[in-house]
Amino acid sequence: MVNEGKKTNMKVRKAVVVAAGRGTRFLPFTKSVPKEMLPLIDKPVIQYAIEEAAACNMDLVVVVTTPDKIALEKYFTRDTELEHILQKTGKDDLLEKIKCLPDLANICFVHQKEQLGLGDAVLTARAVVGEEPFAVILPDDLFEQREGILQKMLDAFHKYQSNIIALRKVDEEEIDRYGVAKVKELTEHICQVLDLVEKPRLADAPSDLAIMGRYILMPDIFEELATTPKGIGGEIQLTDALKRLLSRQSMYGYKIQGEYYDSGTIQGWIEATLALALNHPALSQRLRAYLHYPKS
Ligand code: G1P
Repeated sequence: MVNEGKKTNMKVRKAVVVAAGRGTRFLPFTKSVPKEMLPLIDKPVIQYAIEEAAACNMDLVVVVTTPDKIALEKYFTRDTELEHILQKTGKDDLLEKIKCLPDLANICFVHQKEQLGLGDAVLTARAVVGEEPFAVILPDDLFEQREGILQKMLDAFHKYQSNIIALRKVDEEEIDRYGVAKVKELTEHICQVLDLVEKPRLADAPSDLAIMGRYILMPDIFEELATTPKGIGGEIQLTDALKRLLSRQSMYGYKIQGEYYDSGTIQGWIEATLALALNHPALSQRLRAYLHYPKS
């Protein structure tokens, strides 16, 4: 299926980073601190998402958040007082790390009014995204080959000029945590998406290929989201809207290989922290000795 009537060679210039969830898995910590501010070594989870978008040359990063998550907005705002202190005390390396934050990307924040789920959060970005294809990044989902994945999906978008979603094989016992795709294999990395179901029971799962938190979407998804009824969990599910979009547009899966960390769970966050620390120049040696882990 082709996307009739659509222009060819469309460019993806905007990324939507969804940071609107309550982070209940991390309570009590997340009672007053947004889960996206959890550190992975010395940077918050949200920064990795912004850097990923910036590495793909996005002109604008739209962060969907909630009014109480003011810490996210503050983090990317200049702090001249702190800069002054670090300058005075000669902490140039730290000064560089905080000075660059407001310039990582051109960021704007939009607020989701009610906790109505991922689909509603993406819909919140509609006015800012407009009538053009856009990327979606779920910051919790981290990958070993972090920098490469979104760029490879953009490359696939340029070839297929249609919706691209990230897919990865997951274990049977985890399948009911994800959106799951029925596919037709096309190449080593690309498949055509034929059907989608959000958080199926194992018996109902059409495959073991789960949706990971990276998407390149045509703006037509907004029309679908606006009329998609609440689905599983009483929330407006992005997967349900994508399934509806499938009836009029083609969709491709980009198959991810390598490690994946769900930093939105305590287990995944610890694993992501360890994976980063084991390869961190200043931390690796002592940590490997402490864990009796082979030297790098
Ligand atoms: C969301 C999506 C789901 C996807 C997952 C990836 O679920 O609804 O389709 O597989 O992200 O992390 P959530 O993690 O918000 O429950």
